[in-house]
Amino acid sequence: MSETLHPRPLRLGVNIDHVATIRNARGGDHPDPVRAAEIVARVGGDGITAHLREDRRHIRDEDLARIQQATDLPLNLEMAATREMLAIALRHKPHAACIVPEKREERTTEGGLDAAGLHNSLVHIVDELRGAGIRVSLFIEADERQLDAALRLGAPVVEFHTGEYAHAFLDGDREKVTRELKRIADMAALAAKNGIEPHAGHGLTFENVQPIAAIPQIAELNIGHYLIGEAVFTGLEPAIRRMRELMDEAR
Ligand code: PXP
Repeated sequence: MSETLHPRPLRLGVNIDHVATIRNARGGDHPDPVRAAEIVARVGGDGITAHLREDRRHIRDEDLARIQQATDLPLNLEMAATREMLAIALRHKPHAACIVPEKREERTTEGGLDAAGLHNSLVHIVDELRGAGIRVSLFIEADERQLDAALRLGAPVVEFHTGEYAHAFLDGDREKVTRELKRIADMAALAAKNGIEPHAGHGLTFENVQPIAAIPQIAELNIGHYLIGEAVFTGLEPAIRRMRELMDEAR
């Protein structure tokens, strides 16, 4: 049994995609993302996040059920807004589904979903997911127009894309870091005021996580690439523990 089901002020969802990236580099079954999910549960992570991409470059279809069987942590399935992914989500019934934009050629999810421009195609997908009891999240830029679109779509959760913030942090562009933080904090407050639960993720590291974790309305961070990278050097358990400590310190 995991020690993780107590509600916490700020949850940590660990994205285990890149364990599967390493596995797939050799085409076998090692390292197994399911083993990573078990470690996340043991160490006190609050959820498992996995992105089933159209090209199956990391997580594969069969991983989803294996992850769900291996732990009792909530699964947050990141998915493109396609009929194929909708059918998979309805079959697996994850705790949450985070709708992300997906371009075949991108290295990672570059930029948020255009929830405003895609309203008509998203409305059915959001409704069907919600009808199946799946908590829908939209991965959007911290932007009032996108937040308004999420509200009109009836999404209970938005996840703000922190990529611009993370890039600015890496570049040492202090002005942009401050601007990005303000944009995310303002939109988190506006989301909460409108009854939407704000989450955040993308490019978060030990160095840049705290200012985001300090935004009081943000209920969950989803963090992947950096944690799996750190795990190469320290192991996954210490990497998650350190991230958890930094998040708790910031609150
Ligand atoms: N949240 C969403 C919606 C994502 O698409 C990703 C990347 O897959 C993450 C969080 C995690 O980003 P990172 O791997 O940069 O921590």
